[in-house]
Amino acid sequence: MSDGSQAHPVAAATGRRVYLDNAATSFPKPEPVIEAVRTALGHSLTVARSTHLAEFRGDEVLKRCRIKLAKFFGAESAEEMIYTYSATDGLNIVLNGVIKPGSHVITTPLEHHSVMRPLHHLRQDAGVSWSTLPADGMGVVDPAAIKGLVRPETSAIVINWVSNVSGTMQPVAEIGRIANELGLPYIVDAAQATGTHPVDVKEIGCQAMAQPAHKALMSLPGMGVLYLSRALDCKPWRIGGTGYRSDLVMQPEDRPVKYEAGTVNVPGVVGLDAAMDWFEQTGVKRIRSHCATLVSRLYEGLSELPGVTVIGPYPSEDRGFVVSFTVDDQAGAPVDPLVVSQLLAEQHGISTRAGLHCAPPAHRHFGTLDRGGTVRFSVSYFTTPADAEYALKSVREVVAGL
Ligand SMILES: Cc1ncc(COP(=O)(O)O)c(C=O)c1O
Repeated sequence: MSDGSQAHPVAAATGRRVYLDNAATSFPKPEPVIEAVRTALGHSLTVARSTHLAEFRGDEVLKRCRIKLAKFFGAESAEEMIYTYSATDGLNIVLNGVIKPGSHVITTPLEHHSVMRPLHHLRQDAGVSWSTLPADGMGVVDPAAIKGLVRPETSAIVINWVSNVSGTMQPVAEIGRIANELGLPYIVDAAQATGTHPVDVKEIGCQAMAQPAHKALMSLPGMGVLYLSRALDCKPWRIGGTGYRSDLVMQPEDRPVKYEAGTVNVPGVVGLDAAMDWFEQTGVKRIRSHCATLVSRLYEGLSELPGVTVIGPYPSEDRGFVVSFTVDDQAGAPVDPLVVSQLLAEQHGISTRAGLHCAPPAHRHFGTLDRGGTVRFSVSYFTTPADAEYALKSVREVVAGL
């Protein structure tokens, strides 16, 4: 799939642009999403703060989208769907709102900085500690180990559902059963799962689940969604104007407003609202199956190339749709993934991401930390089999030149 920059000099030289960086942000967006955002930008995007005679009713879009999101996530009510600015924002809201000073958390070795940096700051500022669940070679944690790690002061279990580095998928529902048995708040980072895998928060048993809107949810950057169960006691973290109960000096207690201080990213919600309809028509299972087929081809094709090593679990539908790999040159020396990524871009017009992907613990687990991480391909519903073949051919050529 072209990334829309045919005018770029490399595109002119290679005659082709292939976008394989959907785990960073999805491209392209579905046409109805683009159309809805374009139309909305022709209006004032005010919400809950002004009395306008506008054709565009921001409040109504927010309300309507929340209802669709609650259905999409299997939530009990629309109030449980919180508009955030990103997955990071959602995770900060819930981690800072739930984890008590001096308490303890159970997590995995594959967490993103969006979880680990808040935890490190909570350790520094509030004496919080954590234990990491043991994991197998593919990074899958052992839920049975949870009980042995629980302490009297444990205040939450935080799990990255799908690794953005390896595609490793954790047994989130099994962990949910144990968390609920223990009565521990269960927080899921679903940044790399929502939109490509069916989500049902009740089946998973989590009380919070964070995701951005700009990845597989097909909306815009600067927008995220946080599922926050009404049963979860979570202090508001981002505090300020809500356009509601301006008479109060403190944050209103009503959900979802309690957690939505600041002007909501209205174009992001408009895009998400249109994306919800697109998902309804397209079907998440169809998206999953399409992506799994492509990942399977990329994984197998890359594994056959000399000097290339793919990390992460063997392809299946129960996996994330990233393929991370390392490259050794013909003398067997490790090649900086940034060099490979750059060659793929400059010589072949392929967009990828290389490095540590904001998840150094995951690279430590897979033994790729000291070599600067991996090159990562990530696909979407709009990636084609021809794109995958072209990417494989390109990697073969790049490797042959090293
Ligand atoms: C697993 C995981 N968690 C969290 C995030 C953060 O998402 P955002 O940058 O949209 O806040 C990412 C983004 O790459 C991710 O892959």
